[in-house]
Amino acid sequence: MDDKIVAANFKTNHTRRSTAEYVEAIDLFLSEKKIGLPLYIFPPSTALDSFETKNSIHIGAQNAYPTVKGSFTGEIGLQQLEEFGIDTILVGHSERRHILKETQEFVAEKFRWFKERGFTIFYCIGEPLEVRKAGEEAVRQYLLKQCEGIDTSYENLVLAYEPVWAIGTGKTATPELIEQTHALIKAFSDRPLLYGGSVKPQNIKEILEVPGCDGALIGTSSWEVSGMVSMLRKVKG
Ligand code: PGA
Repeated sequence: MDDKIVAANFKTNHTRRSTAEYVEAIDLFLSEKKIGLPLYIFPPSTALDSFETKNSIHIGAQNAYPTVKGSFTGEIGLQQLEEFGIDTILVGHSERRHILKETQEFVAEKFRWFKERGFTIFYCIGEPLEVRKAGEEAVRQYLLKQCEGIDTSYENLVLAYEPVWAIGTGKTATPELIEQTHALIKAFSDRPLLYGGSVKPQNIKEILEVPGCDGALIGTSSWEVSGMVSMLRKVKG
């Protein structure tokens, strides 16, 4: 499963120091076990840095404003990312859509802006529970709307299907549901497609074996080195 993409979303966890320790520990683990998969880590913006690693560990931003620099209090822009050579960004995460009220228009503007600068964009889509309960066609329509204004054939795009009801809840989508939903998404985009939502050591292997699943975007279970290591062992095993 070496070609699967594994990504860790730290959200509002970890400090600058603990992120550096984490990256060092994971780098060492990958070297010792000779695991060669592409690994992405999205630390909080205060912990962004250019880490020297032996393995292919990419550091990405969880968010940035579509600007080089300027007056956008509390935000960071391209200038702050370029300082550390960051060229990967998460766009459209459900916590930014729902808690921070980012609209589809704004999400699409951010996508366009970072696409024009060649960024690798991890673009998240996923339905809330009431839409899932309304059935597969409702889910399909919802996911399509979340792709409005998004170039779903962008060469540096990585899609992540993250059902809102599975994020941080411990409730993982079943392999059957992931397979069905990934097929809906694959019908309109051929880019790599990750699953996210309560991925953990107990389920990562079966999730990554789902046809049409190209990797995992992991929150909670990725925050401790031990959790990440046990997931990477499963992926490799
Ligand atoms: P979770 O988060 O693994 O804690 O469910 C996933 C995500 O939000 O990307």
